[in-house]
Amino acid sequence: MAPARRSHLYSGTEIRAGLTTALGQVTAGDHVLITHHGKPVAALIGLEAYQHLTAVGPPASQETVMQVISVYNQAGGAGKTTITMNLGYALKERGYRVLLIDMDPQASLTRWLGLLTPGAAQASPPAEKLSRTAFHVLSDPDEELPEPLHAFGLDVIPANSKLSAGDSLLYSERERLTYLRRAIRAQGGYDFVLLDGPPGRSALALAAVAASDQLIIPINVSKSMDNLGNVGEFLREARTFSPDLNVLALTMHSFMANTRHHQDMLRTVTEQLSAIAPATTPITHKSTLYNDAALYQQPVAVYAPQKSPRKEFDTLAGEVLGLLNMPESLEVSR
Ligand SMILES: Nc1ncnc2c1ncn2[C@@H]1O[C@H](COP(=O)(O)OP(=O)(O)OP(=O)(O)O)[C@@H](O)[C@H]1O
Ligand SMILES: [Mg+2]
Repeated sequence: MAPARRSHLYSGTEIRAGLTTALGQVTAGDHVLITHHGKPVAALIGLEAYQHLTAVGPPASQETVMQVISVYNQAGGAGKTTITMNLGYALKERGYRVLLIDMDPQASLTRWLGLLTPGAAQASPPAEKLSRTAFHVLSDPDEELPEPLHAFGLDVIPANSKLSAGDSLLYSERERLTYLRRAIRAQGGYDFVLLDGPPGRSALALAAVAASDQLIIPINVSKSMDNLGNVGEFLREARTFSPDLNVLALTMHSFMANTRHHQDMLRTVTEQLSAIAPATTPITHKSTLYNDAALYQQPVAVYAPQKSPRKEFDTLAGEVLGLLNMPESLEVSR
């Protein structure tokens, strides 16, 4: 254990006379605190400690706790991938460092970000190798997260169809469900890690949610909500690995304000389901826009910056930040 440093207190008026002594104390590794009218205003610290502080970088107000959030609803087509990608991009636009992890062997997130398409100078897609996916971590308890790919200012751990092998690995040894959680935390360096879960109750879905501290449940308002009843059981299982797992928000999308059924759904979610989690402002229905953005392999805010979905996902990002008590934005320059 490092020896405890002694602290010395000087008032502003004493420091001039006591400077030689104070500097001797700092050289000896002690801390010197200077007060003015009884309030601490400055500190003298050793050069090594100062260099360490300046090398560490951003001031405390810019430091955030890394938030690991799964976007999951076992229903297929619930909006998991759309919300992961576009919320991630909106958070990036607000200056946050974002890592997206595609946990679905369908790999829609990876494809929609253009990472399953070979670039001009490449023969194969960047996301082709299984070793670039979360499988890398699930296969070995000592492995770190693979080097991420990059798209639109986001870091991405991609998926491809071979990731389905992860399911059998996880079924064969339950302990492996903890590996992703450990590797994400060992990595650090991000403000947000968003995981796009696969549909159904596969082991990959459980690994994604078990790796998270927060869960966003997407709800497609044009589909039935029957499956939400099963979420409780799934959460219980995930909480054996992530005891503090919190349902952060219910996020409705494909909402049409002039449709009576959608208004009823909105009331149900905001009133009756508020015990599960707060509802965020619904994302409106724009099927052509979302389909085209996916086809052109871009977040919707990049594909159509002038259209309303950009603002809607920015609002969602603001609501998520509010729920997590995080600053509305971080300076992009940090
Ligand atoms: N606001 C919206 N308006 C219209 N269509 C939308 C909207 N959001 C998502 N969609 C469409 O809904 C479909 C399903 O969305 P998405 O693929 O994100 O769901 P998913 O839960 O990830 O599906 P899967 O379970 O297959 O992984 C997609 O075709 C997407 O373009
Ligand atoms: Mg999906």
